[in-house]
Amino acid sequence: MMKGLGWPEVTVHEIGVGRARRRTGVGWPGEESPRREEVAPREDDGGAAGSPGDEGAAAERSGPDEEAADADGGSPTNVVAMAAGGEPKGDVVFPPLPLPPHTRTFVVANQKGGVGKTTSAVNLAAALAASGAHVLVVDLDPQGNASTAFNIEHHDDVPSVYESLIDGQPLSEVVHPVERFPTLFAVPATIDLSGAELELVSVIARESRLKKALEAHCAEREEEGRRYDYIFIDCPPSLGLLTINALVAGDEVLVPIQCEYYALEGVGALYRTIERVRTQLNPRLTISTVLLTMYDARTRLSAQVAEEVRANLGAAALDTVIPRSVRISEAPSFQQTVLTWDASSSGALSYLQAAREIAYRAVRQDEAG
Ligand SMILES: Nc1ncnc2c1ncn2[C@@H]1O[C@H](COP(=O)(O)OP(=O)(O)OP(=O)(O)O)[C@@H](O)[C@H]1O
Ligand SMILES: [Mg+2]
Repeated sequence: MMKGLGWPEVTVHEIGVGRARRRTGVGWPGEESPRREEVAPREDDGGAAGSPGDEGAAAERSGPDEEAADADGGSPTNVVAMAAGGEPKGDVVFPPLPLPPHTRTFVVANQKGGVGKTTSAVNLAAALAASGAHVLVVDLDPQGNASTAFNIEHHDDVPSVYESLIDGQPLSEVVHPVERFPTLFAVPATIDLSGAELELVSVIARESRLKKALEAHCAEREEEGRRYDYIFIDCPPSLGLLTINALVAGDEVLVPIQCEYYALEGVGALYRTIERVRTQLNPRLTISTVLLTMYDARTRLSAQVAEEVRANLGAAALDTVIPRSVRISEAPSFQQTVLTWDASSSGALSYLQAAREIAYRAVRQDEAG
């Protein structure tokens, strides 16, 4: 059955216009980047967004799926308004999603490298912020990939999450706004953080440094009447002290799983670590969300991985899967999220749909008591 994403067709104004400063597309300094239209063909990358079995770009562009919108209480007549006022760098705005009654802190973790942790943290955060939520992303990976995607400087003398963890500098002094998303903020990570795993070993309450920093920052924001609705902590590909700090600070774990060979390898170790943190350090912690990434509808393998994940990890798995998408992979090299790079691509729509599922799941759980 052909089934779309259930998301209204996107109106794209001013989307994907590359900015002038240090844009090369491959992370090479000193060159201006071409506009997106000059570097990439207009046709979509052919990934299938949405649930496994979807038939790809044609389906996703076929307009709102009224059934899905109604089921979620959303209006199928919502129109996506982007780049209001036609300004060259207008804000990105989508129809509002319900806000959680309290801050939901997601730890995006999987010690396996390259499974889509950063991509998911960045794009889910952007999707939720564009839908009206106040969102913070904490880059907790010395690679600083989330900082790059948000175009936040993260060379080694930029104050970053490292200073908060090691020196106790308030997060409010290192947090940056993300351009074009008025309610999205990010704390950058620099290469300094690569030493933090070792340095933390001798620090008092070493597992709860991030929790302390976040609690103080959140209390400040609440006092100012600007409570965060969501916080995403982007973890490095390890189960070391940085990830433990994230697990102690968070209340929900979001596990991205790449639809590839060995997809579930290492998931056992991850779950055991989470369980240990839950019993010893953070009883609030749950594995609330599993997100299948880089799904390729053309391969049997992707479908098998999806099946296996659903069988093994159960209800936490979102119905939405993230397709393998050229637009998703090229966006960070232009310091952008896929929502600003190509809002009508299958990749952007799938992250919007996943954000929507995350927002509505909480509402359903609340209603269920
Ligand atoms: N859905 C997708 N389609 C195509 N490419 C993707 C997709 N998701 C992620 N990628 C690409 O795969 C690579 C790994 O993704 P990402 O950096 O998000 O993984 P990660 O788990 O954060 O990696 P690390 O463990 O190194 O932190 C990146 O080059 C990213 O652009
Ligand atoms: Mg990463």
